[in-house]
Amino acid sequence: MASTLTIKDLNVSIDDKEILKGVNININGGEIHAVMGPNGTGKSTLASAIMGHPRYQVTSGSIMLDGQDVLDMEVDERAKAGLFSAMQYPSEISGVTNAEFLRTAINARREEGKEISLMKFIKQMDKQMELLEMDPNMAQRYLNEGFSGGEKKRNEILQLLMLKPKFAILDEIDSGLDIDALKVVSKGINEMRGSDFGCLIITHYQRLLNYITPDFVHVMMQGRIVKSGGPELAQRLEAEGYDWVKEELGIEDETVGQEA
Ligand SMILES: Nc1ncnc2c1ncn2[C@@H]1O[C@H](COP(=O)(O)OP(=O)(O)OP(=O)(O)O)[C@@H](O)[C@H]1O
Ligand SMILES: [Mg+2]
Repeated sequence: MASTLTIKDLNVSIDDKEILKGVNININGGEIHAVMGPNGTGKSTLASAIMGHPRYQVTSGSIMLDGQDVLDMEVDERAKAGLFSAMQYPSEISGVTNAEFLRTAINARREEGKEISLMKFIKQMDKQMELLEMDPNMAQRYLNEGFSGGEKKRNEILQLLMLKPKFAILDEIDSGLDIDALKVVSKGINEMRGSDFGCLIITHYQRLLNYITPDFVHVMMQGRIVKSGGPELAQRLEAEGYDWVKEELGIEDETVGQEA
């Protein structure tokens, strides 16, 4: 049976400032959801809250993964349960190579005694790096250290292909990519498509969605999803911007707001 990630009436604060104000979203295995929306409307906050970033305080609502309460899980338990995220700004880890990091991450998601063999790991990594047209040297470089913007994004997709999570949250995976890299990254995500993989893609540009056709498109404003539709919604946003959505819904300031 396909997995389900269900977010209900999620409210999230940072330093007592309310950022998310009732987010509802249901992602089934096999589905790709795109979340779009103007700057500062809470999209990355949603990604961080799902992954359990300690600064993001869930004040009410729920996140369930196949009936399991995600909010009860530590960050590593969430990863083990099958959640994956590629953050808008991936961090650099000096002293740990990309390959070491990946192998550790894979094994952390496995039972003791069922670790991936070095041979099998290398074979898989070589294969996926080839698919993503990555320079083989990238495997031995320190994680994200000195990686160009595009290399970081490609590397996030390498992690995705290697870790094979049930659900992935990809935050602006397309930002800063040249046209060829955009195609390669899309190829990687499409490679994951299947009934046991669900994905939430946060993006500003419809362009990415030309390569990865989403099943649903959501618009975020004021810390909640204010409108949902199919791929045609992204096309209209690309053509007309967000003003019509704001007018339709009577929203003046789409940001999360600075009110106390
Ligand atoms: N760690 C934090 N500390 C203080 N404020 C924060 C923090 N994280 C998010 N915010 C605030 O929450 C609001 C929403 O931020 P968020 O990063 O979720 O927006 P976004 O929709 O991802 O925007 P963008 O499209 O620019 O990436 C912003 O006003 C931001 O300043
Ligand atoms: Mg963001």
